[in-house]
Amino acid sequence: MNFMIRAVEVGSRVVDGIEKVGCLNRDIPPYSLRRMVGAPPLDFTGRMYRLQGPRWLGHLRTIGELDAASSILEIGCGCGRVSGEILAHKKMATRFVGFDVREDLIDWAKEHLQRKFGNAEFFHAAIHNARYNDGGTIDASGYAFPFGSDEFELIYATSVFTHLLDVAVANYFKEIARILKPDGKFVATFFLVDIDHPHQTGGARRGPDGARPWRGPGFYNRVGSAYSPYSELPERMIGYRIADIAELATKAGLKIAGVHPGFWKHGGPSITWQDLLVFERF
Ligand SMILES: C[S@@+](CC[C@H](N)C(=O)[O-])C[C@H]1O[C@@H](n2cnc3c(N)ncnc32)[C@H](O)[C@@H]1O
Repeated sequence: MNFMIRAVEVGSRVVDGIEKVGCLNRDIPPYSLRRMVGAPPLDFTGRMYRLQGPRWLGHLRTIGELDAASSILEIGCGCGRVSGEILAHKKMATRFVGFDVREDLIDWAKEHLQRKFGNAEFFHAAIHNARYNDGGTIDASGYAFPFGSDEFELIYATSVFTHLLDVAVANYFKEIARILKPDGKFVATFFLVDIDHPHQTGGARRGPDGARPWRGPGFYNRVGSAYSPYSELPERMIGYRIADIAELATKAGLKIAGVHPGFWKHGGPSITWQDLLVFERF
């Protein structure tokens, strides 16, 4: 594993210890798990972590027709940052399933959410991801989602396809098209890159909660049709041209039904930091 990532993980566990001794933030996962799913480094109070669930509940209600869905799948659910809020909103009649490649995240979701909400099921899939699960034994490009055809009305993934290489995206799209009901919705975030401007050059404005456009390295490293700022570990952050996503979707039997550009690139008014796409079957 990348040395920097390892060092951050070790440092995060020290904060976990402080939280435990001080009985802090007991309603949310420990700092190291929050960091793993994308909470900012200085979010020691968990404020930013707690904001995400209510926000996504709103997006999925308006964009994903969440209120009409009686079966929901979250891909890459992490420790339930989003699903905790969805489960509190959609009570017992709704079937909810979440899976992730990291066992520590799923263990927390099982203990705190599956126990509390009888309609929820979380499971760990030992899929390899060089960033999140480098010991994983299952290849994402061949993973068969353990569900029958047409099982879910809503499938969503927040900040997951931003860590998947194209062979994995192709397979996940194919599986999603198979298990999504014919009139269902699939909502997911991406970094939609402009390859003529690898730095993506966002505006200077700050977004909600001080969020800034991406100012890290440019998306110079190409792996298949994926682009990453990080040559040594592309899965840290992956972007695609929207044309390539559309092509992968079409091959799988999905079409892009909605595009919501994110704040990360444009620095303008957006509902999310990453770009948000809505897919339907055709
Ligand atoms: C940035 S985190 C986001 C977690 C969660 N969606 C959220 O918003 O809180 C990315 C997540 O994707 C998961 N992940 C990585 N590769 C995956 C794969 N092939 N299938 C499913 N989940 C994956 C990681 O373990 C991690 O939990």
